[in-house]
Amino acid sequence: MEKLHFHATTIIFIIFFLFFRVLSLATDTITPTKPLTVNQTLVSSGQVFELGFFNPGNGNWYIGIWYKQFEQKTYVCVANRDTPINSSSGKLTIGNNGNIILVNEAETAVWTSNISVPVRNTVAQLLDSGNFVLRLEHDENPENYVWESFKNPTDTLLPGMKLGWDWKTGVNRFLQSWKTVTDPGSGEYSFKMNIDGFPEIFLLKNETGMKKMYRTGPWNGLSFGRVSVTKNVSIIEFKFVDNADQISYSFEMKNTSVRSRLVMSSSGSFQRFIGVVSSQTWTLFWSVPRNLCDNYRRCGLFGVCDANATPLCKCMKGFRPKNQQ
Ligand SMILES: *[C@@H]1O[C@H](CO)[C@@H](O)[C@H](O)[C@H]1NC(C)=O
Ligand SMILES: *[C@@H]1O[C@H](CO)[C@@H](O)[C@H](O)[C@H]1NC(C)=O
Ligand SMILES: *[C@@H]1O[C@H](CO)[C@@H](O)[C@H](O)[C@H]1NC(C)=O
Ligand SMILES: *[C@@H]1O[C@H](CO)[C@@H](O)[C@H](O)[C@H]1NC(C)=O
Ligand SMILES: *[C@@H]1O[C@H](CO)[C@@H](O)[C@H](O)[C@H]1NC(C)=O
Ligand SMILES: *[C@@H]1O[C@H](CO)[C@@H](O)[C@H](O)[C@H]1NC(C)=O
Repeated sequence: MEKLHFHATTIIFIIFFLFFRVLSLATDTITPTKPLTVNQTLVSSGQVFELGFFNPGNGNWYIGIWYKQFEQKTYVCVANRDTPINSSSGKLTIGNNGNIILVNEAETAVWTSNISVPVRNTVAQLLDSGNFVLRLEHDENPENYVWESFKNPTDTLLPGMKLGWDWKTGVNRFLQSWKTVTDPGSGEYSFKMNIDGFPEIFLLKNETGMKKMYRTGPWNGLSFGRVSVTKNVSIIEFKFVDNADQISYSFEMKNTSVRSRLVMSSSGSFQRFIGVVSSQTWTLFWSVPRNLCDNYRRCGLFGVCDANATPLCKCMKGFRPKNQQ
């Protein structure tokens, strides 16, 4: 009797274990027969990132990726940023041509990964890095990803994402702000690699043309010239690659239990945040422009800028101002 009881418990346990294992194995992936509907989310295998539908407060619905372990939602990627759906009854799935598609209530595609997929047995998976990838069902080699969210950035650079030129595709990947804090649509500020001179990154504002607001200065082997990092960055490894394949900036975390992200904010400030899960906090670590002097060509040729002075601009010794203001 005792023995029988033991067996029954074990069997029930095994059944439950297998059941949940199947469920948990499946929850980071979308397949043609297993789409994602509104009240469902994908969770990366190590529980780091989550993907699903969200409404940022403007009444529209978007597909986004956020940190699973932080209670306060921070969206690091928005798929259909300029083509929201008006109700929560959408579906994210794999279309007949092997692409990821988002369909609305009326089953019309409002967003798609839109690449030519060589074969059709594709699945889409959310990885612990925050990368949402479209790949062949049995091929997990990163070199063979058909499409990836890391190569289609929104306003946020995560560890492992590359900002800049990819010579194989001829694409210059850049960050573009949300319109407002409640509207993820493509906003006026972008942070983009410029290779007209030495490679450097410019903060641009879209106002009757793209106006340069801030420049990082060229890479000096450790950092970009004008970005003076005064705090301890021993936890972050910065990378700058300039070769036949790419001119790119990226970073990695040396301590993987610390999170970090770079964001082009809708108010025009470019920011690095550091997050610690155990304290549920995001700290603003660094941001530019720091003051009015950081603005691109604020004082003109031969000008010297002092953020604590009025007027802001002085001339260099031996020069006289062109304009008294
Ligand atoms: C999602 O959940 C909400 C709240 O539980 C519910 O009102 C809504 O009908 C659900 N939507 C779908 C499509 O299941
Ligand atoms: C929402 O979108 C669907 C499909 O585009 C459309 O048929 C419907 O009228 C819209 N509803 C509202 C309230 O705008
Ligand atoms: C897909 O890409 C093609 C070529 O780049 C473009 O013409 C088309 O508008 C895109 N379709 C969608 C739905 O984004
Ligand atoms: C600049 O903004 C205008 C108006 O919103 C938009 O039509 C245009 O596409 C934007 N240009 C760029 C390069 O983002
Ligand atoms: C930076 O952090 C390392 C390791 O935690 C420490 O050894 C070093 O003294 C720190 N440097 C500064 C400037 O705070
Ligand atoms: C990594 O960061 C966590 C959280 O701040 C800290 O507790 C841990 O000691 C760090 N590990 C190393 C090896 O520095």
